[in-house]
Amino acid sequence: MFINTARLPHVLPPRLYSCPAQYELEQSRLFAPVWLVVGSISDAPHDGDFFTCEHLGQPLLVRNIQGTIHTYLNVCPHRHCLLTHAAYGNSQTLTCQYHGWEFNEDGRTGKIPDAQSFKPFPGGPECLQKFRTEVRGPLIFVTLNENAPNLADQLGPLVEVCDEFPANRWRLADSWNYEFPVNWKVVVENTVESYHVPTVHPRTLIRYGREEEIEHGICDESTSMRSPIATPAFYRRIADWLLRSLEPGCTHVYRLHHGFPNLFLIRVDAMLQVMVVTPTSAESCRLSVRVFVLRAAKENLRSRLLTRAWGRFKCIIIKMILAEDARLYPDMHQGMKCSPFEGTISTREELVYAFQDYVYRRCGLGA
Ligand code: FES
Ligand SMILES: [Fe+2]
Repeated sequence: MFINTARLPHVLPPRLYSCPAQYELEQSRLFAPVWLVVGSISDAPHDGDFFTCEHLGQPLLVRNIQGTIHTYLNVCPHRHCLLTHAAYGNSQTLTCQYHGWEFNEDGRTGKIPDAQSFKPFPGGPECLQKFRTEVRGPLIFVTLNENAPNLADQLGPLVEVCDEFPANRWRLADSWNYEFPVNWKVVVENTVESYHVPTVHPRTLIRYGREEEIEHGICDESTSMRSPIATPAFYRRIADWLLRSLEPGCTHVYRLHHGFPNLFLIRVDAMLQVMVVTPTSAESCRLSVRVFVLRAAKENLRSRLLTRAWGRFKCIIIKMILAEDARLYPDMHQGMKCSPFEGTISTREELVYAFQDYVYRRCGLGA
């Protein structure tokens, strides 16, 4: 059932979907203070593995040290070079590419070539900058805010989804990115509503559920939707046979969780789809998609092949659905820029309203 019983206002005026000042406000009020996903353990599964990324304008180096994930600013305290340029890699030591300074796990300097030429060695400030990092399920979360609350407090009901299975039960089937020439809120709002399903996805998703089949949840930091999915009988037969081999408790109920501001966890049958929408300017954003499939609790050759096959199949469908949405994004964005209307939101779209309300409150737009 829906939570609201009457239509809702479009809280955010359309101009806020292309406004540079609003982009800056969202960066500082919505993104900088919180925990955000920077990758998954599949990006650095073994001791010495690392990857680099740009996060809120900062270059980060995320490194697996004996099974624990650490995040550093990818900048050397000697003469400020990036420690590494590589997107991914493995190295025995955390070493700067320029003059070869080595660093320990806690960020303090280890071996320094020709160390005596730095006498007297000042100590202290020559330390890598580290950021709070937590792994939850298969995902790596980082915050640049020392005073951020615990990740679990921020995630709320999403913790349950992350912790449903241990990280090693999830196999990454595929991961890929899209760059969209649209404001990030366009992508977020499209992702949390199913009202557009019959018009935009008539072949892939077919129809939306009836109100009595759908359960919406709205919290301060997240929303959720739970709904059965309409699937052809042959598909369901194959899926049921396969799911019994991978994880007997799996169901066909579709669960979509939106962790504000930009994380989506989609759980259905043996799959976890993770999507992160990152604003790259007032009028552009990146959508990162990761699809995981459960491994059997006791893996064998047959179950490994099933996990792989299910992952491939799921990714084909997901790419078709996301391409159908992507075709419309530029028009949604263009319309927003020119709209003289206030807009309106149905009860079926109430998760869009909840997200807009969160942006409105956090950005202090009413003040
Ligand atoms: S800049 Fe890193 S060791 Fe010199
Ligand atoms: Fe869609």
